[in-house]
Amino acid sequence: MSTSPAAEAARRRTFAIISHPDAGKTTLTENLLLAGGAIRAAGAVRARGQARRTQSDWMKIERERGISVSASVMTFDHDGLMFNLLDTPGHEDFSEDTYRTLTAADAAVMVLDAAKGIEPQTLKLFEVCRLRDIPIITFINKMDREAQDPFELLDEVSSKLALDPAPLYWPAGSGGRFKGMLDLRSQQFLPYAKKSSTDEEGHPDAVAFNGNAIVQYLDPDERSELEDNAMLVTEAGKPFDVQSFLEGHMTPVFFGSALRHFGVDQLLAGIGAYAPAPKPAKASKAGAETHVAPGDNEVSGFVFKVQANMDPNHRDRIAFLRLTSGRFTRGMKLKAQNTGKAMSVNAPIMFFASDRELAEDAFAGDVIGIPNHGVLRVGDSLSETGALRFAGLPNFAPEILRRVRVKDPLKAKHLKKALEGLAEEGVTQLFRPMIGSDFIVGAVGQLQFEVMADRLGNEYQLDVIFEASPYAEARWLVGERADVEDFENKHKSAMGRDIDDQPVFLGKSSWEINYVAERYPKVRFERTKERG
Ligand code: G4P
Repeated sequence: MSTSPAAEAARRRTFAIISHPDAGKTTLTENLLLAGGAIRAAGAVRARGQARRTQSDWMKIERERGISVSASVMTFDHDGLMFNLLDTPGHEDFSEDTYRTLTAADAAVMVLDAAKGIEPQTLKLFEVCRLRDIPIITFINKMDREAQDPFELLDEVSSKLALDPAPLYWPAGSGGRFKGMLDLRSQQFLPYAKKSSTDEEGHPDAVAFNGNAIVQYLDPDERSELEDNAMLVTEAGKPFDVQSFLEGHMTPVFFGSALRHFGVDQLLAGIGAYAPAPKPAKASKAGAETHVAPGDNEVSGFVFKVQANMDPNHRDRIAFLRLTSGRFTRGMKLKAQNTGKAMSVNAPIMFFASDRELAEDAFAGDVIGIPNHGVLRVGDSLSETGALRFAGLPNFAPEILRRVRVKDPLKAKHLKKALEGLAEEGVTQLFRPMIGSDFIVGAVGQLQFEVMADRLGNEYQLDVIFEASPYAEARWLVGERADVEDFENKHKSAMGRDIDDQPVFLGKSSWEINYVAERYPKVRFERTKERG
């Protein structure tokens, strides 16, 4: 096995799954791990997650609500390739976290419920992928249930996402009449058996579509219908073109049933064959733009997520570092670009699906967890020289602002620390108005406040109240320093600072922000902030 950083990076496939809640992301994740040999039986992901949660008892809310709030990563070695599956939280209130996770992915699998097609959250996540030029592989799930006409589903992909769908397989029926699918390239038919995914025998072997064995699986009408459809889709659609896929114009389409472990092996093979290996990353070095290639010798990466208190016995945080170049080895010293601080990474964690293990070495595309005491922040760039800075991760303008107070006024100082901790993790956004002593917290969804209250209570023993905020919208101010300062001085009552001490305008409405922005053309009012 070759071990040069370039060769190792070339066999990495780092991807995320995007979907609307309930389309089957969790089930597919589990079955991809099964297909990749990382787990032995379906049901293990949930069981393991459950065990982990009872063990560490963190994020009670996650358990109570039965939703996955925190993103994690799972790594498995299969077929000569190293797959890194980034798990994104499905609930819409956590979209900001999902957006950040997508900055660490090189490809995405878009799961559609065959009966529902493209749903609102699918569309939102797709737009982020497009913004970041992440190629998309489509998996049409739940074919074992009554589905929409596959032609209509493809039309929807094409009209709603402006993406050319290129089916690699074509299904024979759906629901109770689901018989399997035809591999449009090899003309092999893959029969579907109505058995559970845990069944040892699985699904029957593929047979030639034009051979005699097909009669076991399709009656003459079904066969001729499938033949007609396959011909139609081949003639009407554009053939799959890898280049077009990598450029974000085309999506290969797979069909299947995650629950019944059908079509999942084909999807995994497709990810292996078509999803790109890590690409060179844009960065700056000493003020000049540069590209960092996965095969470069210098080890580098960026933090896309920080998670605190995975184990309540330790006040540790885990920073998730997506490596962009070099060969990382355990014990190595890495420097943060913004602070210049060096740290020895003695206990990095690799998140193998089976268990956590200490990472001995890792390459571009891999994600390692670095335990630390709060020095690493989302958006930090780490490298051996400390000179590289990757184009930052965006912070999104929060959609809901609240004033936060602690019931016991003696604990006000404590509250500041706790909120700063949560803000560093990206759980909330924190703004400190220039006038007054209240804190304003921002979130993209209501549920985020519940998570915040829960964590402030459990981890910091703080009983807090969220109250209506006098502000409705936040915008980061960007421009020449003198212009920004001039603006700040004239609008002190509506000015605040974020956790990095950057000036933020807190408006009462978007109308007010537009009104003010028109009068100060030299200052830009940004909805996102790139952190570096
Ligand atoms: P999510 O992570 O995208 O939210 O979806 P999840 O995998 O949890 O799946 C949502 C529901 O859809 C689950 O049913 C799951 O069993 C079902 N499902 C997923 N894939 C398939 C499929 O290919 N075929 C069929 N028929 N169902 C599928 P549930 O009843 O909500 O949960 P559970 O009690 O089965 O766990």
